[in-house]
Amino acid sequence: MALPRKKLVAGNWKMNMTSSEVTPYLETFRREIDEIDGVDIALIPPFTALTKASEILGGTQKIRLGAQNLSPEAKGAFTGEISAAMLRDLFVRYVLVGHSERRRLFGETDEIVRRKLVAALASELRPILCIGETLEERQAGQEKVVLETQLQGALAGLSKEDLAEVIVAYEPVWAIGTGLTATPAQAQEAHLFIREFLTKLAGAELAGKTRILYGGSVTADTAAELMSQPDIDGALVGGASLDPRGFAKIVAAAVTEE
Ligand code: PGA
Repeated sequence: MALPRKKLVAGNWKMNMTSSEVTPYLETFRREIDEIDGVDIALIPPFTALTKASEILGGTQKIRLGAQNLSPEAKGAFTGEISAAMLRDLFVRYVLVGHSERRRLFGETDEIVRRKLVAALASELRPILCIGETLEERQAGQEKVVLETQLQGALAGLSKEDLAEVIVAYEPVWAIGTGLTATPAQAQEAHLFIREFLTKLAGAELAGKTRILYGGSVTADTAAELMSQPDIDGALVGGASLDPRGFAKIVAAAVTEE
């Protein structure tokens, strides 16, 4: 029997939503999810909106906060950067690390991703490690090599205690913001590969408990089937998380019937 893994649905607002848009969003979203239980929910606003969301939500359990990025450094002369401690101060629980937009547009290497992951763990933030292949890499049959390199680069050398805090998000780059979702079978195959990697790295018990989210054009229409796959433990949602009603539908789709 599969180990119980509580699903996590996280909404990554990316560079959208001003601080003043947070209150109306949360009013609607909280109403819509009021009756939903048994799923972890996270909102990942841009830094400026995070302050407002934190004022409203504080450390509430029903909706947890995540950040989209953090500095690998603890403090000091790093103009424009945000540290793990600053995030903790705003009740942030999760932080995205290695999102493909950061890798692609901002030159983040596997080594930078690893250092950010370590910085997050040192401050007791739970990193959501994003990995995924491009279309060219998939067409060349290289997707598993890419996933393994990204996993290895970020996770090798971590203690089991630290690994137990990591959440992985499989986000095929060709599916992000494109409207092209991986099929449930394609996603499941990648998720199983990731879980097998984790089993080799840290043993079956830890791998069986690690949550692996799917991300890439998830909508209220595709969410339920994706999340019903045995190794898909939730969703990382970009565009579709900007509408509080639509996002609430995706959260509802994560509730599994016993
Ligand atoms: P999308 O983004 O849902 O807009 O494709 C997903 C992500 O980048 O996390």
